[in-house]
Amino acid sequence: MLAKIVVDFQNCLIFILISLFSLLCLFVFVFKKPKDSRGCDLPPSPPSLPIIGHLHLILSTLPHKSFQNISSKYGPLLLLRFFNVPVVLKSSANVAYEIFKTHDVNISSHGHPPIDECLFFGSSSFVVAPYGYYWRLMKKLMVTKLFGPQALERLRHVREDELERFHTNLLSKEMKGETVQIAKEAIKLTNNSVCKMIMGRSCLEENGDAARVRGLVTETFALVKKIFLTQVLRRLFEILGISLFKKEILGVSRKFDEFLEKILVEHDEKPDFQGGDMMDVLLAAYRDENAEYKITRNHIKSLFAELILGGTDTSAQTIEWTMAEIINKPNILEKLRKELDSVVGKTRLIEEKDLPNLPYLQSVVKEGLRLHPPAPVFGRKVLEGCTIKGYYVPKNTALVVNAYAVMRDPHYWEDPDEFKPERFLTTSSKKEEEREQELKYIPFGSGRRGCPGVNLGYIFVGTAIGMMVHCFDWRVKGDKVNMDETAAALTLNMAVGRRDTC
Ligand code: HEM
Repeated sequence: MLAKIVVDFQNCLIFILISLFSLLCLFVFVFKKPKDSRGCDLPPSPPSLPIIGHLHLILSTLPHKSFQNISSKYGPLLLLRFFNVPVVLKSSANVAYEIFKTHDVNISSHGHPPIDECLFFGSSSFVVAPYGYYWRLMKKLMVTKLFGPQALERLRHVREDELERFHTNLLSKEMKGETVQIAKEAIKLTNNSVCKMIMGRSCLEENGDAARVRGLVTETFALVKKIFLTQVLRRLFEILGISLFKKEILGVSRKFDEFLEKILVEHDEKPDFQGGDMMDVLLAAYRDENAEYKITRNHIKSLFAELILGGTDTSAQTIEWTMAEIINKPNILEKLRKELDSVVGKTRLIEEKDLPNLPYLQSVVKEGLRLHPPAPVFGRKVLEGCTIKGYYVPKNTALVVNAYAVMRDPHYWEDPDEFKPERFLTTSSKKEEEREQELKYIPFGSGRRGCPGVNLGYIFVGTAIGMMVHCFDWRVKGDKVNMDETAAALTLNMAVGRRDTC
């Protein structure tokens, strides 16, 4: 009898020990709060897979949604791991506030180049240039030549010509009873406008150059996820001697290089191109032996490739998504058309100067960008170790901002998944102002490294949507536009290519 009690007691002890051990494991692996070497808490880390860590989240077809899901389960500031590379993920409006307001300088870098010799995001890049002399020099030039109010006014005729061409295309399709693929037409509008604004008249629809550039933009965007992975895992790839995706990325880079070199030579050689556009100014700086900063031909080509990439697809996608929302909601379309009729009248096309007088149109565009940001996630790098929301984020950690989740954060947005332009019309009470400040609206990023093309983006989208609603009736094949998303390339695309009838 005594022996049996001893055996039972032993079993019980073993059972208790196993249970305690399991609980400990669970605590350590699931609920653990990792500490940095100084003993501060690192951000919480959700369960991960062996070896690859959280890499599967970025490999999923909709990374912004996978990130949004784990953030709603485990918190708005998380520490993820792609293999052995730490990445901090931020997904809420009030973390955005702290990061962009308190740590803006410390996060004013888009990380190191994924591949040095690549024309875009390589070692001559503007987008991944550290926040320093070169970046400031180029930013200043861009403001004077491209993005500042005077530059925008000087180049207005270029955009108005392209808007007219866009209108003529739609009109001719309407006359022939053809269907319109909005994304395809919108990308012509934005790409032609950007190319002409930065390179003068050297990139023409008529000689096939414009179509060639559009092809390069599409090819590059298809590689964005690979470029992002190459950037984040660069050290690991180097240690393992892997050059995954390098050949593919450099292939597109080479085509961009050939094209831009041709345009540079034209600018160099033909006196009639010396119209003082941005390329002329950069070429003069390149030739200037006494310049304070010696810019190279590669700097110029990189900047142009990145402006074309940054300015084309982003605005075109916003035009497509916003039109889809409007077509699906006839009451919004009617309200918008009423506003356009009363401000623009019925005898002319919308012009840029009309935009400030069209508050409802502006709200529609803002709401389109809130729900469908073309860059749903974007990356930064933490330059020095810092504390965010009480957690320690070590030096050189990659920071991934989930703008999509921030702009659908239910704590800051009423009915966050609904398309309700009116939310931007309400005059803000003091409380609302405070909330606004919490940076809940970040389709263009924020701070020093926020998008320099904000105003241009609003002009492209506002005038295009205004013209399409003002001048045409829209019908869609089927019942409604299918609003499913795909973010296969880390940008937000419509899953189903749409054909509307105008
Ligand atoms: C709807 C239109 C657009 C959207 C939603 C958009 C969005 C963004 C976002 C999210 C970033 C990263 C910001 C950050 O890190 O905080 C960015 C950066 C950038 N965008 Fe845009 N963009 C748009 C239009 C444009 C246009 C029209 C151009 C130029 C023609 C442009 C050029 C750039 C450049 C050069 C950067 C890098 C800035 C830097 O590194 O300092 N974007 N954009």
